[in-house]
Amino acid sequence: MATQDELKQQVAEAAIAYVKEGIIGVGTGSTANYFIDALAKVKGKIDGAVASSEATAQRLRSHGIPVFDLNSVDSLEIYVDGADEITEHMHMLKGGGGALTREKIVAAVAKKFICICDQTKLVPVLGAFPLPVEVIPMAQSQVARALVKLGGIPKLRDFTTDNGNKILDVTGLKIMDPVALEAQINQLVGVVTNGLFAARPADVLLLATQDGVKTYQ
Ligand code: 5RP
Repeated sequence: MATQDELKQQVAEAAIAYVKEGIIGVGTGSTANYFIDALAKVKGKIDGAVASSEATAQRLRSHGIPVFDLNSVDSLEIYVDGADEITEHMHMLKGGGGALTREKIVAAVAKKFICICDQTKLVPVLGAFPLPVEVIPMAQSQVARALVKLGGIPKLRDFTTDNGNKILDVTGLKIMDPVALEAQINQLVGVVTNGLFAARPADVLLLATQDGVKTYQ
């Protein structure tokens, strides 16, 4: 029986088949870290990568993979990242590692979002995992009150994002319509973005199971 970490490593290695050439987008988290380690073995195929966090940039550089500023790149063929939850509709809940805003920006530039997950991340409905909402610090109380009105229970994370902002982790939300809720929360004044990746879902899901890596697209 493979452990969760072994499954993360297997799925990260499977994603290497999607790496062709040019510059690719790279996500953040433990599964993304396994992907970076696997990428290091084929780094000659690509020019480099755009990172979705300072931590990812540091890990890429430590493997000798050039890191590009997103502003110097017109488009990316692929973006590879993990998720905290994903549905069969490819809607994701992300941001457990606090990198949601940069992840969403880099993903927006990529032609194909390849989500790499172990089997525990596939859920029928999003929301058991607390939904991260990145907020401008002076707005955190105001946004928290608005999230309570939406039926959520926000908790301030003891964490500052790479963008100098704070994160509210919201439990208690019934996320029946992720596209609508993503837009609704993003419209609250003071919100930078939230961890629902539904308006722009994944294009490919590589899911590591005890029976091997399964591909959904
Ligand atoms: C970070 C993320 C990660 O993709 C998500 O938290 C999954 O992490 P892991 O691969 O460690 O389980 O969104 O902001």
